[in-house]
Amino acid sequence: MSDSSQNKPDLDDNTNVLVNASAVKRENNVLKDGSEPISLWVMLGSALIVLVAGGALFNSNLFNYDELTAASYTRQAQPSDGSGGVVPIPAHKAYDKVGAKLAKASCLACHGSNGEGAGAVPPLAGSEWVNGPSMRTAMIILNGLDGPIEVAGKSYSGNMPSQGSGLGAKELAGILNFVRGNFGNEASFITMEMAQTAIDSSKERNGGQMTVSELNSNYNVDIEGAEFDPNTLVDPISLEPVEADEISPH
Ligand code: HEC
Repeated sequence: MSDSSQNKPDLDDNTNVLVNASAVKRENNVLKDGSEPISLWVMLGSALIVLVAGGALFNSNLFNYDELTAASYTRQAQPSDGSGGVVPIPAHKAYDKVGAKLAKASCLACHGSNGEGAGAVPPLAGSEWVNGPSMRTAMIILNGLDGPIEVAGKSYSGNMPSQGSGLGAKELAGILNFVRGNFGNEASFITMEMAQTAIDSSKERNGGQMTVSELNSNYNVDIEGAEFDPNTLVDPISLEPVEADEISPH
């Protein structure tokens, strides 16, 4: 058996004197009110931060972002016209953009990417149903079509499902202007107001696909609506006309 007394601390040992000394030192660092003095490094660090921040605020380029913008850029306040800074564009361009997106998604897969038609699907390009009375075109889009139909001198007897679901005045006007103003077509402009008139007429039906005889007996007209200059400046998102005095000078 080893002598365990050798492992026990000797109270007279030097180590104990050292331990006690450091405990006393710690105690001295606690001030009378119980707080400890701030380290010199914390004080120096804080002083440095104050110095740098003061310099940056009052006479340096630390917060100057000029170098991050192009030379031609001038900072401008948001226009107070509620447009959120949107730049108005001519109506025919704005409607065309809205219509192009929708038509590519829901018409051109069948009618061909240039409206040229394909097999049992008649063309939109040069079609009298696209360029003719606009109410017929609108009713075909909103309700679909059950053949037979003659288009540009050729007979078709297919079936087009209704494309009306989810179409508001803005979307319908966009599609109508897109198909009536592209692929070589040059038909008259359709406003959102006119598109809404067509939607309302369509709702008065009992639903179901259109036939050529119903189109020709009930809808062989242009959609009524106020005259509108397709060059009128409109908001490209809402398609609402923007008054000239609402446009902020740029
Ligand atoms: C699923 C395929 C399909 C889709 C999608 C479709 N069509 Fe059609 N469309 C047809 C077919 C087929 C006919 C011919 C129906 C018939 O023979 O009675 C037709 C006929 C037409 C006609 C009359 C004839 C002509 O070619 O001018 C117009 C106008 C028309 N579609 C426009 C549109 C527009 C605009 C859209 C998109 C909103 C659209 N179609 C989406 C298949 C489609």
